[in-house]
Amino acid sequence: MSQQVASLMYLAAGALFILSLRWLTHPATARRGVLAAEIGMLVAVVGTLLKGEIVSYEWILVAIFAGCALGVPMALFMPMTAMPQRIALSHAFGALAAALVGTAEYYLRAPGIDRFTMVALGMEVLLGFLTFTGSLMAFGKLQGLLPDRPAVYPGQNVVNLSILGAAVIIAAALVGDPARTSMFPALVVLSLLFGVLFVIRIGGADMPTVISLLNSYAGLSGAAMGFVLDNKVLIIAGALDGSSGFLLSIIMCRAMNRSFANVLFGGFGQEQAAGGVEQRPVRSVTPEEAVEILDTARLVVIVPGYGMAAAQAQHKVRELADLLAKRGAEVKFAIHPVAGRMPGHMNVLLADANVPYDQLYDLEKINPEMPQADVALVIGANDVVNPAARHDRTSPIYGMPILDVDRARCVMVIKRSMRSGFAGIDNELFYLDKTLLLFGDAREVSGSLVDELAKLPAAAA
Ligand code: TAP
Repeated sequence: MSQQVASLMYLAAGALFILSLRWLTHPATARRGVLAAEIGMLVAVVGTLLKGEIVSYEWILVAIFAGCALGVPMALFMPMTAMPQRIALSHAFGALAAALVGTAEYYLRAPGIDRFTMVALGMEVLLGFLTFTGSLMAFGKLQGLLPDRPAVYPGQNVVNLSILGAAVIIAAALVGDPARTSMFPALVVLSLLFGVLFVIRIGGADMPTVISLLNSYAGLSGAAMGFVLDNKVLIIAGALDGSSGFLLSIIMCRAMNRSFANVLFGGFGQEQAAGGVEQRPVRSVTPEEAVEILDTARLVVIVPGYGMAAAQAQHKVRELADLLAKRGAEVKFAIHPVAGRMPGHMNVLLADANVPYDQLYDLEKINPEMPQADVALVIGANDVVNPAARHDRTSPIYGMPILDVDRARCVMVIKRSMRSGFAGIDNELFYLDKTLLLFGDAREVSGSLVDELAKLPAAAA
């Protein structure tokens, strides 16, 4: 009976996971998507606990407390800007759990494991352990605990591929004869080592894409665990996780106009970053001067970027948009698919500040309107508005679709200095005659613009 109830609960959980992914595709339904996934996970866990096979509820309770002790502070205290690191840590723990379950299953069932289960178990352990160390390395780089420059040496690819090859050969040997228990530790060590070596050669800047890729490995490891344990909900959840992580990596690479190989084997942004930024004259204005122009604008396109996230300026930016709208301007937010440091970064922040979804415009929708914009207000964005992506074949971002803010009548850019962005390259937009720079922290400058606008006499009806 409990088996049938568990199966029904797994079915419900699987349906909720699929619905969740569907709802996560739009900001308006994203919260519902998260809730559906949470309920789905709860249903799956309760369904599993109902199964008669549970040996010790005490240990499960200990695991729940340990998980909460780690997860709750991470959710409460890690800021939005640290979301990529937080996700990397979650993957590390998830992958470690899968790998440890695989290890335990192997030693419990070793000589008698059938071939199919051993293939799944080998995958689970290999992907689980390499994702564990790879995700920890990604966390370290993003958190600044490890140098974020790629560590590169001659023959690195050969060394890495040899280690991976050796791990695969050992896994195959274990499939051939699961009784070779002495080989299993070597599989574990090589997988752990490959995770480290795979990630040290990738720069910190590319970590979000790598994390997404590691997400897919963790998912596949979970799906493999589902086959080992004959647990359907693990197979469904792992397959969804694995495929969505993989697709997300591809989408991120496309939005940056990069290939997978370029992300995994290139040193993006490193040379340019070292080269520094040109010293050319720019036009800087004060918030008082900027407000005079903003007050006459009829269409204002706001372009948020990583700097808005870093400054946590989204609430001030919403206030600014509201004030401009009150004074008769039409305000639209232009969202670039890779603005910020993680997929949907700007959508999440603007939703947090209650910016209505109908004010958010994708790149394809807003670009045709740019020439009609009186002001394009760029808040902490840089690479995603760099016109070099359209015409400079030598630029590392050449070919990346950008927001065409240089086609607006006037461009205002809020940033603290002339420093470059993620790609480490200069931005010709800043030197155009129509570009006005508002130097300062995005939250402070947006706050000053709000204050200055509030001082103006009420707009004529
Ligand atoms: P960036 O090109 O990284 O530029 C951010 C700008 O914000 C910098 O020039 C910086 O200049 C400014 N800034 C930083 N802190 C600030 C603060 N407190 N107040 C005001 N300004 C501040 O950002 P973007 O235009 O959003 O582009 C995102 C980049 O990340 C792209 O190159 C993209 O390919 C890459 N990337 C994105 C993702 C995803 S999925 N979103 C994943 C991987 C990589 P100052 O230092 O002078 O202030």
